[in-house]
Amino acid sequence: MEERVLIVGKEKSYLLGTGKVYDTKYGKADLRKVKIGQRIKVGKAVFSVLKPSTLDLLLHCKRGPQVILPKDAAAIVSITGAGTDWKVIDSGGGSGWLSIFLSMQGCSVTSYERDKGFFEIANKNAEFCGVKIKFVNKDFSKAKGKVDLVTLDLENPDRFIKKAFSLLKTGGWVAVYCLHAETLGKVWAALEKAGFSGIKGLENIQKEWQYGYGKSRPKTWSMAHTGFLVFGRKV
Ligand SMILES: C[S@@+](CC[C@H](N)C(=O)[O-])C[C@H]1O[C@@H](n2cnc3c(N)ncnc32)[C@H](O)[C@@H]1O
Repeated sequence: MEERVLIVGKEKSYLLGTGKVYDTKYGKADLRKVKIGQRIKVGKAVFSVLKPSTLDLLLHCKRGPQVILPKDAAAIVSITGAGTDWKVIDSGGGSGWLSIFLSMQGCSVTSYERDKGFFEIANKNAEFCGVKIKFVNKDFSKAKGKVDLVTLDLENPDRFIKKAFSLLKTGGWVAVYCLHAETLGKVWAALEKAGFSGIKGLENIQKEWQYGYGKSRPKTWSMAHTGFLVFGRKV
């Protein structure tokens, strides 16, 4: 039976199905009789055949609308402590990337996405990653429940802060992803008005370095800005 494997070389990796021969820039990758843990030669290069992790699968998922990348999703986890058995409402579901990341941490996620096309992309991505998420094809204003964390990545998030407050248990968190500083300001004011505590804003920049040959320094090109994150806690 065909199995999905990640073949990882020194510079590049490929997510592929077993049972076939593939053309790569290094030469032919023959995956007809490979086993997990084996090393194979592709042209002159050596690749290890690995079982992909959920994160490996997520990084190969389809992008419909712009996604929250794992580095920002991880910052949400590091600030709120979201993990096993946390109940989360995520909106808008978009491509499902944040929902999938939170589900990977053990959270039980319900995701509200109003656009049917994006709702379907998110569903397919979750299935591809093998995680269970309850996707609801409705506007966030229709969300129900009492949860530990509400995550918002949608237009005009300041309009939904009061609703987020009403969905949270005491001690629960809201995390809002904002592309622009103007949105951050409006969200901050809405958080104060709704009665949130411990309001915090952050930008999570990661700089990748190159090392060696007397040329160790940050890489010339890296992602300069993704978004701002704003947090508040209901106490
Ligand atoms: C940038 S995307 C979210 C991406 C998502 N966080 C991810 O990681 O894949 C924003 C989404 O919010 C949805 N959206 C906007 N307003 C909404 C609302 N009021 N209720 C539900 N979804 C909404 C849009 O259709 C869009 O798919």
